[in-house]
Amino acid sequence: MAGYSEEVIQEVINANDIVDVVSGYVQLKRAGRNYTGLCPFHKEKTPSFIVSPDKQIYHCFGCGEGGNVISFVMKVEGIDFMDTIELLAQKAGITLQRQMTPYNQKMKDEKDRIYMLNKEVANHFYKNLYSQSGKSALEYLYNRKLDDETIKKFGLGFSINRNEMFDFLKEKGYTETEILKSAIVEKKENRYVDKFRNRLMFPIVDIRDRVIAFGGRVMDNSKPKYINSPDTVIYSKGKNLFALNVVKKQRVDKILIVEGYMDTISLHQRGINNVVASLGTALTVEQAKLLSRYCKEIVVGYDSDEAGQAATLRGLDILSSAGCEVKVLQLDTKDVKDPDEYIIKYGSGRFNNLINNAITLVEYKLNLLLSKYDITKIDEKVKFLNEMAKVLAVIDNDIEIDVYVKKISDDTGITKEPIYAEINKLKFKYANDLKNISAISEKTNLKLKKANNNNITQKAELYIIFLLLEKNINIYNLIKQKVNLDYIENLKYKEIIEVLYSYYENELYKSMDALQLFSNDEELQIISSTICLEYNDNNIGKIIEDIAKTLLKNKLEKRKIEISKILTQENIEDKEELEKELSEILIKIKRI
Ligand code: CTP
Ligand code: MN
Repeated sequence: MAGYSEEVIQEVINANDIVDVVSGYVQLKRAGRNYTGLCPFHKEKTPSFIVSPDKQIYHCFGCGEGGNVISFVMKVEGIDFMDTIELLAQKAGITLQRQMTPYNQKMKDEKDRIYMLNKEVANHFYKNLYSQSGKSALEYLYNRKLDDETIKKFGLGFSINRNEMFDFLKEKGYTETEILKSAIVEKKENRYVDKFRNRLMFPIVDIRDRVIAFGGRVMDNSKPKYINSPDTVIYSKGKNLFALNVVKKQRVDKILIVEGYMDTISLHQRGINNVVASLGTALTVEQAKLLSRYCKEIVVGYDSDEAGQAATLRGLDILSSAGCEVKVLQLDTKDVKDPDEYIIKYGSGRFNNLINNAITLVEYKLNLLLSKYDITKIDEKVKFLNEMAKVLAVIDNDIEIDVYVKKISDDTGITKEPIYAEINKLKFKYANDLKNISAISEKTNLKLKKANNNNITQKAELYIIFLLLEKNINIYNLIKQKVNLDYIENLKYKEIIEVLYSYYENELYKSMDALQLFSNDEELQIISSTICLEYNDNNIGKIIEDIAKTLLKNKLEKRKIEISKILTQENIEDKEELEKELSEILIKIKRI
């Protein structure tokens, strides 16, 4: 595994104050020493999420989530540890050097070579375009109304109608293995054959500006119109978006996603600078997540043919699940088939209007239903109402529903009552489903709350963990002297306390980092639930005294109940002894 050293991780943690970082996701309010807000990890109306600037941890008393700045970013962004370190380092302006194992180093070197190779290839294709052999290709691009500046910006090129890439790359010092891994050249019956011949070349560039693959278009009507690089060590389809590297460099409030290379490039040239393409395939979840990192409002501008429609619907749902606000671009004329043709014919002003008038996901779905069903027929009308209700019943906002209902009623002539009836029927069903779910979560919440707050013994035990985490040898000595660990009830707590003890015993306590020591979720939640506990030098002795008393009292109370139970039975052997023990216990409890 490639990794970062502990020091580097610590540096990254130190450079990112947890309150600053969390504030980027949660609105926080000061509450004494801590901050509170609505938990980002579960739905709640009153804040049970707490962030401690002193301890640099967070904890939610509603759902139990907790940890430090790293675990917070991992959870809230849904990214892994490495990516989190990189993200936070970048935020703090720290440059990272990965510690590589030899194997990882080799893989990285290999990938770097292929990035370099691809770059050489892209440059070569570009040069071809302006050489004698590329004349007709360049002519083709001019005919498609692209200019030299755009060609350069997107690095368009031309692959000549001859197998030349193997020798070209060999000459540049690349090995056969590297050349074949790049997939620029294929080996067929012991011959090296260029993947792309006599095609216009579109380099696919990732968000770090590396050429990762190519698409190549024929210049006539022959098939296939495009061929694309297969998956390689540096490229996997469905994880990248064409031109996102260009869009990323600007500040945009929404991103338009279209199907084709040509659409994207053509729109950029005409000043629509927020366009990316999904590269022919249906939009994937990875692409949606990638997009949502840059912009929350996404306008989808896919072709409106049947295949395009299905792709649009899937894409819309994926995007909205990724948390994007989704709109659909509607071409307002039938005499062009895609955005490229539209903007060439009608100009960027009118195209911008299309973007601004893009309709919502709900409108799009309703329009689709309206075109699908002939509501003058009674059975189709029933189906329409059913399907329409599915679209509208999930909307939270009643005013929004009213607007759509009115529109449907106006468009179809169906009166509002049956439309509402159908929606409400479904809403009622969903509400019942929801009630069941929230009843369950309410119960677990209560259980958690009880575990966290109400149980005094549990709290005393938690206090021990909290105090041991203070890395103070005097506190440790006091605890050791006063508190009997055998009285600790919660076994998980006990385990943690024993680990912490061992650090003190081995004089390693100064370097102990709880959040690294305890890394599974359950342990992290225990550690972070110490968030509201406090002590000061004046009351530390009293606190530890209280803890010891609480644990002892609990122990005695439990035994008291045990003995009382036994004594209610008949024919007890050691009745007298038990009675004696009980009276002693009662005295002891009184004394505490
Ligand atoms: N595509 C592909 N392979 C094909 C056809 C299409 O990979 N055989 C992908 C390409 O990324 C293409 C996109 O699907 O850009 C959209 O296809 P299409 O609308 O046919 O292409 P355009 O980009 O509009 O190209 P042009 O305007 O030159 O026809
Ligand atoms: Mn086109």
